[in-house]
Amino acid sequence: MGERQIGIHEGDNAIKLMDLLGPQDRLFVLTGAGISAESGLATYRGSGGLWNGFRVEEVATPEAWAADPVLVWRFYSMRREDAQTAEPNPAHFALAAAEKVLGDRMYICTQNVDDLHKRAGSKHVHHMHGMLFESRCVQCGTPFADDGQYMTAETLPVCASCAEPVRPHIVWFGEVPLDLDAIYAELQRATVLLVVGTSGSVYPAAGFVNIANQLGISTVYVGPEAPANAGSFDAMLLGTAVEVLPGLLAF
Ligand code: OAD
Repeated sequence: MGERQIGIHEGDNAIKLMDLLGPQDRLFVLTGAGISAESGLATYRGSGGLWNGFRVEEVATPEAWAADPVLVWRFYSMRREDAQTAEPNPAHFALAAAEKVLGDRMYICTQNVDDLHKRAGSKHVHHMHGMLFESRCVQCGTPFADDGQYMTAETLPVCASCAEPVRPHIVWFGEVPLDLDAIYAELQRATVLLVVGTSGSVYPAAGFVNIANQLGISTVYVGPEAPANAGSFDAMLLGTAVEVLPGLLAF
């Protein structure tokens, strides 16, 4: 359990986190859509956050899937297309470089379904909301690699084994994030929680900072604006991920 407070203070944008970490420290990083914004991928909320006039809650639910699987597959097909052409940005690369130093004392838990952390070279990445480039049969359930784009009822994929519908391997609203036990185990042994580019409005991820506070873990937020849970952080470093992370994680 982390009980060591490192000395990061409000607005201390020149801080070098890597200099503050000792051999006993463990860094837990939570990322959200904001870290991929500068790679050209739209965030969920805010001005770029609508898709064809739909809020994400209207297409990313089991109810939406039951009512209109073509609409749901069109949403994820277009996101696959966007993500395929996007490249990791300096914030993704800064995290990957930090992991080379910290090794398994660093863990990235991302709410993002894109693969930009992995393409930047990060190894310990947990996709708590699933992965854009995987699908699974609603019956068999095992995820498999899939970059297909399914835009019409005629082209919707079905399982090769049981002919049941295939859905995106995404955690929708009302579903349980993947492997929460592993996430909480990592959080409990962390000493620093670094949260980047998430609005702090979707739970359970938005509650990680409260767990960290209970455990005495130092908490830092990086993003251009205060998230909904801003009051729970020890320090807010206001700026975009690309503006802040390369300096924060320089070593
Ligand atoms: P949101 O779209 O809710 O929030 C994006 C956050 O990124 C906002 O707080 C922005 O201020 C911030 N931001 C924007 N540009 C940034 C930049 N260049 N650098 C850093 N931060 C920036 O996205 P999430 O919080 O990730 O879930 O959304 C959480 C979950 O809600 C998603 O994983 C998804 C969504 O519905 C599911 O699909 C289950």
